[in-house]
Amino acid sequence: MATACATILGQKGIQVSIWSRDEQHARTMQEQRENERQLPGIKIPDSVEVTSDVESALKGAEIIVAAVPTQFLRGVLETLSPALTETRPVVSVIKGLENETLMRPSQIISEVLDQRSVVALGGPSHAEEFARGLPASVVAAGGDARLTREVQELFNTDRFRVYTNIDIVGVELAGALKNVIAIAAGICDGLGYGDNAKSALVARGLVEITRFGTQMGAEANTFYGLAGIGDLITTCISPYGRNRGVGERLGKGETLAQIVSDMKGVAEGVATTRSVYELSLQQGIEMPLTEQIFQVLFEEKSPGEATDALMMRPPKD
Ligand code: 13P
Repeated sequence: MATACATILGQKGIQVSIWSRDEQHARTMQEQRENERQLPGIKIPDSVEVTSDVESALKGAEIIVAAVPTQFLRGVLETLSPALTETRPVVSVIKGLENETLMRPSQIISEVLDQRSVVALGGPSHAEEFARGLPASVVAAGGDARLTREVQELFNTDRFRVYTNIDIVGVELAGALKNVIAIAAGICDGLGYGDNAKSALVARGLVEITRFGTQMGAEANTFYGLAGIGDLITTCISPYGRNRGVGERLGKGETLAQIVSDMKGVAEGVATTRSVYELSLQQGIEMPLTEQIFQVLFEEKSPGEATDALMMRPPKD
């Protein structure tokens, strides 16, 4: 995601530095002008520098884009923070909830960097597609309307259309929770359940994540927009979706340990399921799909048993 964002910004002629803590990876990307690991075949524009040196990456930066998996965000920010001599706005493209603290990415950023200027970018945005110039629409959300518009203008291109929303809670929760539902969608694929089951899951998943979001202070409308149903559809149907892919392999009988041991990248939904499930218990929010996914991931329930548990609940209106 970091490379894809840097690519579209770099194509606009904006000077961008990508910081990677892996020195060898940074050097290879800088020399080969390609992120072979995560985004093969996409040329990194010349206005993008790739470095493992924090000071050099932050020098002159007017804005920081945070694009690391949620569970690593706090540690990465703590590494950056000594080099951040003055506060700069941060754009988060991260979709998850931190374990233990149960915090959203923008809350972690505000806490660690001791500042409030954070904008969250959400919506259906597979890096593999928008970095190639395929049309995509996303939403920038934040409490500071002027900064949110600046971020909209910064990222907006004729193929990457950016809307704005003031509901940062909703945009971040929708982005995190759709990954849980995507694991369930993958399980449907792995078990060969077909289109009806998958569509029912997306529809009931939307109800479930909207219920969660609104009880946590988000606007229901956010879940009917790009960050909600938009991203939910992409993540549940995409052949290269990481979260859907984890579910598909679970459905085919692999264990979570086997899957994560050889996965490229991080499926945010796995750790996020823990956080969402814990929050749902704390807040008394009914989350039948999340509960079953939690049990499949962490309590060795089989996907078939989880299906039975969902389908054989008492009838509902
Ligand atoms: P996956 O990590 O499941 O591929 O989802 C990416 C995403 O958030 C697309 O908008």
